[in-house]
Amino acid sequence: MIKVSNLDKSFGDKKILNDINFTLKSGEILSIVGDSGSGKTTLSKIILGLIKPDRGQIIYEGVDLVNLGKKDFKKYRKDIQIISQNPSSFFDPSMKLGRSVIEPLKNFKLKLDDEKLKDLIEEFKLDEKVLARYPHQVSGGEIQRLSIIRALLLEPKILILDEPTSMLDISVQAQILDILKRIQVDKNMSYIFISHDMEVVEIFSDRVLNLKNSKLI
Ligand SMILES: Nc1ncnc2c1ncn2[C@@H]1O[C@H](COP(=O)(O)OP(=O)(O)O)[C@@H](O)[C@H]1O
Ligand SMILES: [Mg+2]
Repeated sequence: MIKVSNLDKSFGDKKILNDINFTLKSGEILSIVGDSGSGKTTLSKIILGLIKPDRGQIIYEGVDLVNLGKKDFKKYRKDIQIISQNPSSFFDPSMKLGRSVIEPLKNFKLKLDDEKLKDLIEEFKLDEKVLARYPHQVSGGEIQRLSIIRALLLEPKILILDEPTSMLDISVQAQILDILKRIQVDKNMSYIFISHDMEVVEIFSDRVLNLKNSKLI
């Protein structure tokens, strides 16, 4: 599905990622675990094209995403979506959530399928009324569910889950992971699941890689 080779990234003279190599297979949940500050979010941002690596390749559908310009990258941008550990940063505080949720569709000039949104709201056990609220008027669990719904409306092939439940309490965590797992199976999606919680990772994923001392093992 996606093949990462020989990836290096430094910030200043600090090497964060050193010769990272891995392949994400189709329909697989691949987990990347590592301590806080080990470079997990940096790696996700590189895959998303938000920051450039110093060296290396990311091959997706036969194309190296690293060397694509912004315009060419857009073609693949929809296929790879991220769920962040900090979902509120993705929502405009002055915009009603219902509008924010469909914003990416507009960016890709896609039409909203009302039925699909309704199904997702139901699947994630949300009340439709949250769409009429602003980000500060919902809970952390609700906003994270909405950020997942927003990503799923684009029908991505790959979802990067960057510690998606780290700020939620255990019961909400389990519920969201459960839904994510079901969706992954239903749609045969590929996930890169980033976490520092080995216990969750072992239940959730097919394969686990460990990011340690800037190397992926
Ligand atoms: N834009 C940046 N400039 C300088 N240092 C950064 C930048 N982004 C991240 N870092 C540093 O790189 C390291 C890895 O960060 P990050 O990828 O966020 O780790 P993780 O997600 O595993 O907690 C940290 O030491 C962090 O401070
Ligand atoms: Mg991080």
